[in-house]
Amino acid sequence: MTTKKRVAILISGRGSNMAALIEAAKASDYPAEIVGVFSNKDAAPGLDFARARGIAVASLSHKNFASRELFDAEVERILQTWNADFVCLAGYMRIFSNAFAERWTGRMLNIHPSLLPRHKGLHPQQQALDAGDSESGCTVHWVTPELDAGPTILQRRVPILPGDTADTLAERILVEEHIAYPQALAMLARGEVALDRSI
Ligand code: GRF
Repeated sequence: MTTKKRVAILISGRGSNMAALIEAAKASDYPAEIVGVFSNKDAAPGLDFARARGIAVASLSHKNFASRELFDAEVERILQTWNADFVCLAGYMRIFSNAFAERWTGRMLNIHPSLLPRHKGLHPQQQALDAGDSESGCTVHWVTPELDAGPTILQRRVPILPGDTADTLAERILVEEHIAYPQALAMLARGEVALDRSI
C-alpha cells in the first residue's frame, strides 16, 4: 500500500468538519492520516474530540505574539514537528500572513459554507438569504493569500427553503460539508487534483 499523506487540521471552534475528516481517515483505504490538530483558541471544543482519539493537538493564542508573522512562524514550526504534507482549515478564523499562505499554497484547503465565488467572508448563509438565492451549499477550495478566493475543488448544493433562517440553512449545508471535505481531501491525497498556479 502507498504511504498515507500526513494532514494537519487548523480549527478555531466546534470542529465538526475536523471530526468528519478524522472519522473518514479511520478507513484503512483512506489515502490520508490526520497527524495533528492546531487551534488558535485554547478552549476550542474540537481539541477535546481530537485529543480523545489520540491525535496530537496544540493551541496558541495570537494575543501572545507581537505580529501575525511571528504567530504564523510558530504555527509553521508546529506543522513541521508533525511533518505535515497538507493542511486543512476547518473553521479556522484567522487570516494568514502572506509568507505562510504562500508557503502552503497548493497544499492547503479550506471549506466555506457557500457556493463560492458567491458570499465570501463572514455569515455567508445570511448573505445567501439576503440575496434571495434559491440555493446554497459548500465549497472546498485551495487556500491562496486572498480570502475565500482560491480555485474550487468541489461543491455540494442544497436548496434554500421557504422560512429558512441562517441557522436552518447552516445546518443543511453542514451535512454536505461533512461529505464534501473528506472527499476533497482524498482527491488531494491521491494526487487527483493540483492547484493550477497559472490562473
Ligand atoms: C463551517 O461551516 C465551515 O464551512 C466554516 O466554518 C464552519 C466551521 O464549523 N469555514 P466546524 O467548526 O467545522 O463545525
